[in-house]
Amino acid sequence: MIKVLNRIYQKCCRLFFWHTYKTVFRALGRGAYIVRPFRIDGRNDIAIGENTFFQRGAWLYCGGVNNRQASLSVGDGCVFGYNNHITAVGNVVIGNHVLTANNVYISDNTHSYEDIGTPIINQPVQFKGAVEIGDGCWIGENACIIGARVGKNSVIGANAVVTSDIPDYAVAVGIPAQIIRRFDTNLNRWVPLKRLRPQVPGSSNETRVAEQT
Ligand SMILES: CC(C)(COP(=O)(O)OP(=O)(O)OC[C@H]1O[C@@H](n2cnc3c(N)ncnc32)[C@H](O)[C@@H]1OP(=O)(O)O)[C@@H](O)C(=O)NCCC(=O)NCCS
Repeated sequence: MIKVLNRIYQKCCRLFFWHTYKTVFRALGRGAYIVRPFRIDGRNDIAIGENTFFQRGAWLYCGGVNNRQASLSVGDGCVFGYNNHITAVGNVVIGNHVLTANNVYISDNTHSYEDIGTPIINQPVQFKGAVEIGDGCWIGENACIIGARVGKNSVIGANAVVTSDIPDYAVAVGIPAQIIRRFDTNLNRWVPLKRLRPQVPGSSNETRVAEQT
């Protein structure tokens, strides 16, 4: 009984949200729902697909810099955990059926810090690189994706910081994120990759090579 009532309540919340915000966003798919409290800046440039769900604490920011039009697009059927923060000053595209854990940060920009005579808070925000997160990805708890692309059905581990592109069907972990597994379509299975270890003086640098099996 409680389950049924909860379902009806959730459905009503979604319907109410959609009716209230459908003309406010650039696009809002049916069944999309952002749980309060949330903060949305630049909603005219934000598109959210059908049945996409944000847990409470979401902050979506979309605002251009240097006369650049910004765009933030999120696909259909995505689920975002608590306190996700997504910011676009250029272009951020999140595909369909993406799953994120809590406290995930996705951004195409960074604060300038070049001028040491000016507090960084007073220095401009600058575009770093377009962000694309492919369909079907899973982004772990506390991960940050900054100015980089993540391919289809890839996994970003908890606490990873992604600052360079990750291909399709890969598992990446750490700071900076490194690929530890890739799906080999010839072998039709996931293949482990050796990680690049921090350089130790006097030792030879390991390279990322597929483990011989
Ligand atoms: C990335 C992840 C999926 C890998 O899981 P897995 O495929 O089972 O990989 P393993 O546990 O076998 O780990 C493989 C290697 O990566 C390392 N590793 C795994 N996750 C890591 C992480 N988040 N950060 C750093 N290293 C990690 C392991 O220590 C191991 O290293 P080793 O080969 O040197 O021993 C998982 O560890 C992870 O981070 N999941 C996210 C969890 C989460 O946020 N859940 C929220 C619910 S939506």
